Amino acid sequence: ALPRTVRSIRKLYEKGEPIACMTAHDYPTAMLASKADMDVLLVGDSLAMVALGREDTNTLTLDEMIHHCKAVKRGSGRSFVVADMPFGSYELSPQHALKSAIRMFREGRIQAVKLEGGREIAPTIAAITSAGIPVVGHIGLLPQRQAVTGGFTVQGKSEETARRVFEDALSVQEAGAFAVVLEAIPASLAQFITSKLQIPTIGIGAGHHCSGQVLVQMDALGVFDRFRPKYVSVFSFIETNICRFVRVYDEIGKRAQAALSTYRDEVKSKTFPSEENSYDLKEHEKVSLAK
Ligand code: KIV
Ligand code: NA
Repeated sequence: ALPRTVRSIRKLYEKGEPIACMTAHDYPTAMLASKADMDVLLVGDSLAMVALGREDTNTLTLDEMIHHCKAVKRGSGRSFVVADMPFGSYELSPQHALKSAIRMFREGRIQAVKLEGGREIAPTIAAITSAGIPVVGHIGLLPQRQAVTGGFTVQGKSEETARRVFEDALSVQEAGAFAVVLEAIPASLAQFITSKLQIPTIGIGAGHHCSGQVLVQMDALGVFDRFRPKYVSVFSFIETNICRFVRVYDEIGKRAQAALSTYRDEVKSKTFPSEENSYDLKEHEKVSLAK
């Protein structure tokens, strides 16, 4: 089978086949998702939290993002790779954004960039797409702007804000984005937007009427104990019962930790390594160093 492209993603959308998207932040997470035949891998800036242990996404630099893009690209197989433009790499002007996007495209080898924002970012989306770099929009909840919006809450609940989210969707489409992420908006609004747009919507906390879905891999795999108060993720607001949109498909964190404890205990008790984990020589091959 051929690698995915903007065209093949478009074909899925036209067929009405949901687009499966999952984040990846390094070689192994990319390999796992691409072997699971994911349509799209997203090098989300959530990696600042889930791979680097930072408090939010805003300290991630363009150089750091490119470093992660390269690793993901090596493990991406047939999956289509989209990467987030980090905070500070695209806001100053469309030219500034284009320069950053070109670096991500050429150095990071990713196939599309994603930018947070609606109508205010439309000229930027237009500049990047007209230079030949595919763009995915991102509207609704915007984690990079949490300092202004005051945290993580569902967007577009009132008629006025819902209209604004819809208008943002139209602006992003008009500017040339080939898909748009809808984050943390009511399912009914996501359904309405999906029915009105002519590009696929990729939902996260946006119900099942979107053209596709995305989750953060570390959340979906249950790598972190999400109830540990120190675990700060874009998605920790789910625990404040606004919306529980992550489905945890496995408890990989617990299983990995148990495996590591077993290893540690076996080192302490000298049950690892055993003979079968060791190299040994046949009797006649043995050399004597005792001289
Ligand atoms: O950074 C990220 O992982 C994201 C999504 C989950 C949409 O932007
Ligand atoms: Na992101």
